[in-house]
Amino acid sequence: MVTRVEIFDTTLRDGEQSPGASMNVQEKIQMALQLERLNVDTIEAGFPIASEQEFEGVQRVAAAVKKPRVAALARANRLDIERAAKAIEKAARPVLHTFLATSDIHLEFKLKMSRQEVLDRVGESVRLAKSLIGRVEYSAEDSTRSDLEYLAEITKTAIAAGADVINLPDTVGFTTPMEIEEMFRFVIAESGAPEHVVFSSHNHNDLGLAVANALAAVRGGARQIECCVNGIGERAGNTALEEVVMAMKTRQQVYPFDTDIVTEEITNTSRLLGSITGLSIAYNKPVVGRNAFAHEAGIHQHGVIASRITYEIMTPESVGRKSNELVLGKHSGKHGLTRRCADMGFTLTDAEVQHLYEKFIALADKKKEVFEDDLRVLIASMRNESFEIYTLEQLRTAGGDPTIAYVKLRRGSESCEETSTGDGPVDAACQAVERIIGVSGRLQEFSIRAASPGKEALGEAHVAVLLNGKIFYGTGASTDIVEAAVHAYLSATNKYLALKSTQEPTPITAQAR
Ligand code: KIV
Ligand code: ZN
Repeated sequence: MVTRVEIFDTTLRDGEQSPGASMNVQEKIQMALQLERLNVDTIEAGFPIASEQEFEGVQRVAAAVKKPRVAALARANRLDIERAAKAIEKAARPVLHTFLATSDIHLEFKLKMSRQEVLDRVGESVRLAKSLIGRVEYSAEDSTRSDLEYLAEITKTAIAAGADVINLPDTVGFTTPMEIEEMFRFVIAESGAPEHVVFSSHNHNDLGLAVANALAAVRGGARQIECCVNGIGERAGNTALEEVVMAMKTRQQVYPFDTDIVTEEITNTSRLLGSITGLSIAYNKPVVGRNAFAHEAGIHQHGVIASRITYEIMTPESVGRKSNELVLGKHSGKHGLTRRCADMGFTLTDAEVQHLYEKFIALADKKKEVFEDDLRVLIASMRNESFEIYTLEQLRTAGGDPTIAYVKLRRGSESCEETSTGDGPVDAACQAVERIIGVSGRLQEFSIRAASPGKEALGEAHVAVLLNGKIFYGTGASTDIVEAAVHAYLSATNKYLALKSTQEPTPITAQAR
């Protein structure tokens, strides 16, 4: 018999905490709609107390999706819990997720609370959460470094106060498969949890064991896995959704568990996240990496041609990878373009279709073949631009020593121009941008890659810029790589300006997130 395991996706909360993965409200909604197509059971949309923007993001995701549950995170205190409850009040199926650490390390150094005080707080917080929202999850942060007897006692308290889900996270990515399986068996048995209570496993990947630990937790009795698309998340990331799902699907004899994930949507979801965040996916990343199904060695190719099962344990089609991702040529209509975008998981407004079509035709003029990856990059850069305070109007560079760059930017109805010299065209152009905007940043990271095959490929630039002590990430695309770099630099600078113009976020103490 195959037992069902629920997928709790935390890409928009824990995943979004990865450096470089922050998303604006529109991007969160776009991602949430794709997670709905992927058919996850729960979307954790954010941590509403963190800032106004975070609150709005959770609220908008809660209103946008219909089928999945929508969870909001809260520390175990009244303010956080009430704020989280408010953010998800319109969700069709809300979940309030509250957490408090249980390891002696956290109690002594972070919380400065006794075990009894933590027990009392867990009871009060879960009771309050339950009085506001029908489904409550309690997470015993740092479970895997907690005393097991105490963890069982905490679990009993949370259940008695009304918790429907008990999450035992490996917050610091410390545990191993054998230990975590044992921990779940022990806590489930010792707490005498009633049938309706679901045990959940949330694992960080510091030792590269997050997926293995999630699978072991399921063997120990967990029936919900918390994970992120592409394995993003705090530090080394979380359990990768695509890996854990495909491991269960591919190895049913060892893991007789099933999820409701529409695995054919995995590639779309992974690539959408990549284009929204600009976080590139390692070529050798299981399931979603560019090389995950590429057979290079002659002996492998020979075997695969004879029969795919010689070297292929799952098919590319089963995760939604198509061999022919060629889209449309210059003469393709708007209608065909819109349909292909919808297949890739993008819901475009009429204005976006028009704008994208113009970009698409301009690109198709330069390069004959336009691929799905080109379209993803075009859509991401178009959406970035719609939030931009400054946009690039003109760029000219002249080589020599030093290089000279002329830049013209638009802000609202005004245009401003500057010329600057620099060490190469990118440096000169970025300096001209800074003169116009009146900021001074330091480029910390700069990479450029081709979005698709071919000499005329669209270049996708990613930058990390240090501005006023904080790092801002930006992406930009163009068939001209200097222009792509300037778009990326401008996108990071615009994010800095946008943040400066909003209220400072509510400070989060060391206990949070
Ligand atoms: O890693 C962790 O412990 C968390 C909790 C808030 C669930 O992210
Ligand atoms: Zn976490």
